Amino acid sequence: MNLKHALKNPVFKIISSSADELGIECYVVGGYVRDFLLERNIGQDIDIVAIGSGIELAKQVAKNLPNQPKVSIFKTYGTAMIRYDDIELEFVGARKESYTENSRNPEVENGTLEDDQKRRDFTINALAIGLNTSNYGTLLDPFNGLKDLENKRIVTPLEPNITFSDDPLRMLRAIRFATQLEFEIDQKSLEAIKENFQRIDIITKERIVVELHKILESPKPSIGFLLLEKTGLLDIILPEITALKGIDEVEGQRHKDNFYHTLEVVDNISNHTNNVWLRWTALLHDIGKAPTKKFSKKVGWTFHGHELKGSKMVYHLFKRLKMPLNNKMKYVQKLVFMSSRPIALASENITDAAVRRLVFDAGDSIEDLMTLCEADITTKNPRKFKKYHNNFKIVREKMVEVEERDRIRNFQPPVTGEEIMNAFQLKPCREIGIIKEHIKEAILEGHIPNEHQAAYDLMLKKGIELGLTTAS
Ligand code: CTP
Repeated sequence: MNLKHALKNPVFKIISSSADELGIECYVVGGYVRDFLLERNIGQDIDIVAIGSGIELAKQVAKNLPNQPKVSIFKTYGTAMIRYDDIELEFVGARKESYTENSRNPEVENGTLEDDQKRRDFTINALAIGLNTSNYGTLLDPFNGLKDLENKRIVTPLEPNITFSDDPLRMLRAIRFATQLEFEIDQKSLEAIKENFQRIDIITKERIVVELHKILESPKPSIGFLLLEKTGLLDIILPEITALKGIDEVEGQRHKDNFYHTLEVVDNISNHTNNVWLRWTALLHDIGKAPTKKFSKKVGWTFHGHELKGSKMVYHLFKRLKMPLNNKMKYVQKLVFMSSRPIALASENITDAAVRRLVFDAGDSIEDLMTLCEADITTKNPRKFKKYHNNFKIVREKMVEVEERDRIRNFQPPVTGEEIMNAFQLKPCREIGIIKEHIKEAILEGHIPNEHQAAYDLMLKKGIELGLTTAS
């Protein structure tokens, strides 16, 4: 098969002539070829395998490229990288690796193209296209990767135990590709993951998180989380989520299985947002339910305080996975903490004051919070489904109405601390805070409009109540 049309980018011709000049064979492999054949968006990463020195080839390519870009060399790995336009060209020499039982450091020897292909993770990632003039555009597929692409299968080129022990992250990659591409993992490979899942322990958290993100960014993330659970990986990586599994029954009273519920919420939200942090929120919104679960004869199953507990767990989870403890983490915490607020509000008589308080507390995250709550509706009862959605629709309408009038979302106190100090000739003191809080409460409750004059009048009244005297 000839795939010259996969090599439209002029950079391939330059690699081709550079390789011919050095008399080195070279190929484009991996994700670029796979995604081209799948007609997916081809990434900006192009992996080149040289039968010989990848570093020498990279230097020659850089010499022949306009503006001679810099070559970054990673000696330990024998790789080189060139950034050119918005493309990242990665060069590596083909290797044949033999692993010894008790060492994780492979003894690396130079190898043929096929040696290199068979030590890659999956057949669909082991497809190569020739770049020398003699074989320009020729597809080299010794492990039937093309057939596996057509049949939508994730298969390892070697015995799966060998492929996975070479790099245990590949177990996670198998699940990630199965989720991203909606492919099936070959039965033998799946069994091998179930046998080897504990070896994920030797992989850095950063690499694990990259794969988790890619699973969450997929159109239907539940595919990945179900596979993670089935293979045992989830319990190692995210035990907070597996803890949600199961239904307890006491005296005929059952609660829902919060694991499957969570996955439904994640899939639902993924139809409405590509914001991966909002998707994380959906995944974690109920994690506080496992440690707060209680049964009482009077009310049945309860999860009191699960939102606060869950938001605290978010911090520990991010820390354990070495994810940055930054504003994104705070955003996830905040939404988990507030995740029941709109529901509580919608099930009562929806007052303007309650809507104002919700908008005030959520601030700029209010839209995302509503999206989370709508995704949280997983009832199979069509009457209830409609009713809950309708309640949220009313909340949203009220939010627009209240916001237009009261501008609560990015609330700024209508009377400043300085104005209070001037009015009562004060130095910084407790009373200023009390007056500000009183004004804010009056606005949220709807006793006064969010306007300067009304707030100023209230300030004077409250100050006098506190025994202060005005300047005039
Ligand atoms: N590879 C591998 N084992 C790994 C990681 C990568 O065999 N643990 C090989 C695969 O052939 C893969 C190629 O290296 O196709 C490039 O890896 P990478 O850039 O991580 O992945 P892509 O396949 O390009 O896919 P994506 O860009 O979606 O991550």
